[in-house]
Amino acid sequence: LTFLSAHFAKVSTEMKYSLEMCREIDDRDKLGRFKQAFNLPSGIIYLDGNSLGALPGHTRQRIEKIIDDEWGKHLIDGWNVSWWQAPSRIGSMLARLIGAKSEEVIVTDTISVNLFKLIAYSMNLSPGRRVILSEGGNFPTDQYIAQGFAKLQPHIEHRTMPPGCIDPKPHFTSEVAVAILSHIDYRTGALRDMHAITARGREAGVHIIWDLAHSAGAYPVDLNGAHAEFAVGCTYKYLNGGPGSPAFIYVRKDLCELTEQPLAGWFGHADPFAFEEKYRPGSGLRRFLTGTHSALSLGALEAGMELWKEVDLEELRKKSISLTSLFIDLMRPIAERQKLSLITPIDPALRGSHVAYLCDDLGYNVIRALASRGVIADFRAPNLLRFGFASLYLSHQDVWHAVKHLSAVFDSGEFRESRFECRAITT
Ligand SMILES: Cc1ncc(COP(=O)(O)O)c(C=O)c1O
Repeated sequence: LTFLSAHFAKVSTEMKYSLEMCREIDDRDKLGRFKQAFNLPSGIIYLDGNSLGALPGHTRQRIEKIIDDEWGKHLIDGWNVSWWQAPSRIGSMLARLIGAKSEEVIVTDTISVNLFKLIAYSMNLSPGRRVILSEGGNFPTDQYIAQGFAKLQPHIEHRTMPPGCIDPKPHFTSEVAVAILSHIDYRTGALRDMHAITARGREAGVHIIWDLAHSAGAYPVDLNGAHAEFAVGCTYKYLNGGPGSPAFIYVRKDLCELTEQPLAGWFGHADPFAFEEKYRPGSGLRRFLTGTHSALSLGALEAGMELWKEVDLEELRKKSISLTSLFIDLMRPIAERQKLSLITPIDPALRGSHVAYLCDDLGYNVIRALASRGVIADFRAPNLLRFGFASLYLSHQDVWHAVKHLSAVFDSGEFRESRFECRAITT
């Protein structure tokens, strides 16, 4: 193996780690060459690629090309030259990363908006069923959209499973039309068994919308292998599309023309420039488009996706496990000393690419103090320290140094300083 498994099995028993060992592993890292494709500020260790991915070096050129050439020279014709097809073109680049066919993925809007479309779409496919099932403790927007949808139609019920319910199958009753499930939990990093849950959903007549926010670019998702029906995901995290880059929708090929979605705008019309009075859905996934998309944002995303063409997903997974395992092991004595509770599964097969600890003592300050030392991670209220491991630009040496800084932040008590108290808008 490129990394640890072998190396790691040895060290975890001997409990011997060194920077030298990390360097040796990095020297053999088949993904190591990608680090130089990113513009990371020097002196920064970025453990927040699970919130906002780093900036790929060539994104600037792509944006400049859109401005100078496509927009500047072609003006309105830029739509014909490049922009019109961008949602499908980039969707097909993304498809391989989530185990879908190229025509099953389209890039548009946000996860929130796309969830609304897919809830409505799957409820149309389930006459007689009136429950939208979602998970307590999931990322709030997944709940809010379901709540908002249910408010529109009084006969629809939004039902929530208890937080931490990793196996939702017992909740798939005959009233449930659709379930919204995160594949990798945004807090704990716990990974769900997509194959088994999808199969159970099918038996129970429940459509499942997978939220892949923390999976795409972090884990080799196999939507087709699991026979999954619907999914959404964002592109600004591990896919490096940039702040607010558009989300994606996946719809299994045989399902994508069965009905309509309610946010039926002109971009999803069968013939937008016929300017007809009545909506006619476009073919395939185009019907999931709504209005005019941002060519600049899509361009930045396309630049990010260029990098992914060459990424071996098996290597990605191995490296993700390697980085998270190293972090968890190095953190063990600190966690014991500081009474941090690891809430991420210790079994690598059961986790994604981030690691989280409950920290009852000034967690926000800890993250700010760490940032002042150049190590960027995030805090999730009320008391979670969250560390993301983006395999394209992190090394084992980065992990080593990050843990040294964490140790110093705690041991020195510097996180108690008042300068780390002031809350920014984003945490
Ligand atoms: C699981 C999950 N779903 C949804 C979102 C956000 O969705 P949107 O693209 O609508 O902002 C996030 C953001 O971090 C997330 O973690």
